[in-house]
Amino acid sequence: MSDIKAIGVVGSGQMGGGIAQVGACSGFACIVFDSNAKALEKCKADHAKRLAREVEKGRMKQEDVDAALKRLSYVGSLDGLKGVDIVIEAIVEDVKIKRDLFASLAKMFTGGQILASNTSSISLTDIAAAAGDAAPRVIGMHFFNPVPVMKLVEVIKGLQTAPETTERVIALAKAMGKTPIPANDRAGFVSNRVLMPMINEAFFAWMEGVAEPEHIDEIMKLGCNFPMGPLRLADFIGLDTCLKILGVLHTELGDDKYRPCPLLRQLVTAGRLGDKSGRGVFSYAK
Ligand code: CAA
Repeated sequence: MSDIKAIGVVGSGQMGGGIAQVGACSGFACIVFDSNAKALEKCKADHAKRLAREVEKGRMKQEDVDAALKRLSYVGSLDGLKGVDIVIEAIVEDVKIKRDLFASLAKMFTGGQILASNTSSISLTDIAAAAGDAAPRVIGMHFFNPVPVMKLVEVIKGLQTAPETTERVIALAKAMGKTPIPANDRAGFVSNRVLMPMINEAFFAWMEGVAEPEHIDEIMKLGCNFPMGPLRLADFIGLDTCLKILGVLHTELGDDKYRPCPLLRQLVTAGRLGDKSGRGVFSYAK
């Protein structure tokens, strides 16, 4: 059983929004913080839309959706998270920005609150080091997109993470209906250590003219039973995020097999970021 009652989520993008939605539907009070008012508004509207769809599809009762929506709140200042038992950070995949945030969170949350990161590749030991005395309460809680659908939470311990923090996070993930699986603090953990080289290789295959992007994806879907081909999945994750994760793997593991494909880099430079910008490898109607 989880001792946690209230969850604070930093970042209202697709991951942060999804985490808050799942938390609220599992009975937790969830406060979403974002300094970008537009992003926060969109997150709120998406919650209403997605939960209405759950009723439409007969997966939730209207009264349960109403109760979940009541458990959700949205704040434009970090101070608004005061009173939560855990903060889950889901912001940009940038080590400096995350370290700065965790240094601030450590000053704000001096009780037993857990400070979790949804980082997909950055070292938890590094993030925890910025949290000073709060380092034993820092841990990785890596959710997968779309959060309401995907069952996994990869739980990553930094060198400083206390065993009690891991136990509490495992209990919380289970209470959120997820399957927590532990992984050690190595660049990309397990999921992206394995997934990103495959996605990168799909870009190399496209760049070298091995096949058209549609055909690369169809081959991997039909031949390996993947729900999405690797290029479609890259668009779904965000090409900028894929590039950032590959950059971490390349720098931290120091092996050229993780070198980001130049074509992936070019698409990001051109602003073709995937679903979120309307165009990545493929085009998406707004
Ligand atoms: N948010 C919430 N729910 C969503 C959603 C979203 N963005 N997209 C789809 N869903 C849900 C809906 O409940 C939907 O059902 P309804 O239409 O009945 O409401 C259900 O998923 C099925 O969706 P679709 O019919 O549109 O399409 P689908 O059957 O192809 O499923 C998918 C969509 C679940 C995304 C599926 O294609 C899939 O599993 N793709 C692979 C996803 C994946 O690999 N995710 C991990 C990415 S890696 C990551 O996140 C971590 C990282 O560090 C990079």
